[in-house]
Amino acid sequence: MSFPSRRPRRLRQSPAVRRLVAQTSINPHQLILPAFVREGATENIAISSMPGVVQHSRDSLKAEAARAAEAGLGGIMLFGVPATRDAVGSGATDPEGILNLAITDVKAEVGDELLVMGDVCLDEFTDHGHCGVLAADGSVDNDATLAIYAEMAVAQARAGADVLGPSGMMDGQVGVIRAALDQAGFQDTLVMAYSAKYASAFYGPFREAVDSQLVGDRRTYQMDPANRREAVLEVELDLEEGADMVMVKPAMAYMDILADVAAISPVPVAAYQISGEFAMIEAAAANGWIDRKASILESVLGLRRAGADQVLTYWSLEIAQWLKEGTA
Ligand code: PBG
Repeated sequence: MSFPSRRPRRLRQSPAVRRLVAQTSINPHQLILPAFVREGATENIAISSMPGVVQHSRDSLKAEAARAAEAGLGGIMLFGVPATRDAVGSGATDPEGILNLAITDVKAEVGDELLVMGDVCLDEFTDHGHCGVLAADGSVDNDATLAIYAEMAVAQARAGADVLGPSGMMDGQVGVIRAALDQAGFQDTLVMAYSAKYASAFYGPFREAVDSQLVGDRRTYQMDPANRREAVLEVELDLEEGADMVMVKPAMAYMDILADVAAISPVPVAAYQISGEFAMIEAAAANGWIDRKASILESVLGLRRAGADQVLTYWSLEIAQWLKEGTA
């Protein structure tokens, strides 16, 4: 019988030792809360597939943003749910569109205490639900969409957004947005590019969250889940085009991508823990199959370990609360 002289368990023997050697942690400043605001809503509307997440009224969104600032979060990423939609997503570029109004509301509420971020994408605003406008043959027209993204980005910057998140996966979107911002005098507005964004089944609950009208799928523009190398190309292109930060999305089924991107990116890397990932953990926890709090914390810690500098998560406020209480 031989006994080991190398004993990795020595470093796990007590909370004090484990604390000393923990390599990864979660900091509220690095969490970003995605939030939905619904045009015309006078009260919050529950999203059944995302327990605890709501479509906010404008007033309620302001209160949520104040809570996010108070909790020391890094940012709030806003998504609009417009009352009407059309083929070109007019509500996205209209200064009176719900997302632009909400950006102004939130910025007035939180000032410099919290970064206000806007989703730059047309899917919430188009009646067909695609992230871009359609060509005559029904395909998503890349270059026609770019012109609208440029306008949408400037509208959001004018409304007061600190950070823009282009999420439509059109080729060249970061470049046109950067150029349009610079030309309009918004040199300091940041671009957090959804660089490696995959055509995922896990977006399911988000469709309910924004009342999406989409028929079909996004596979001609979002990335194929089968592909890994392509993520590096998408990141490199976004960096050449001027992205200040890059993102991988979804998160948990794409941690190899996150690690790849973290290994090569000279700029901060974010991961978006999306609606379906949220829903899975909530559903399993509601059934008593997993420990909710431990699973949430482990899921976010895992993303940090894989290389995410920032994490977008619907649990941002709750996690910040646990960290503050010292119960995380
Ligand atoms: C596009 C966008 C989507 C999400 C964030 N931005 C939807 C999509 O690409 O289908 C999904 C976020 C989530 O599922 O939590 N506007």
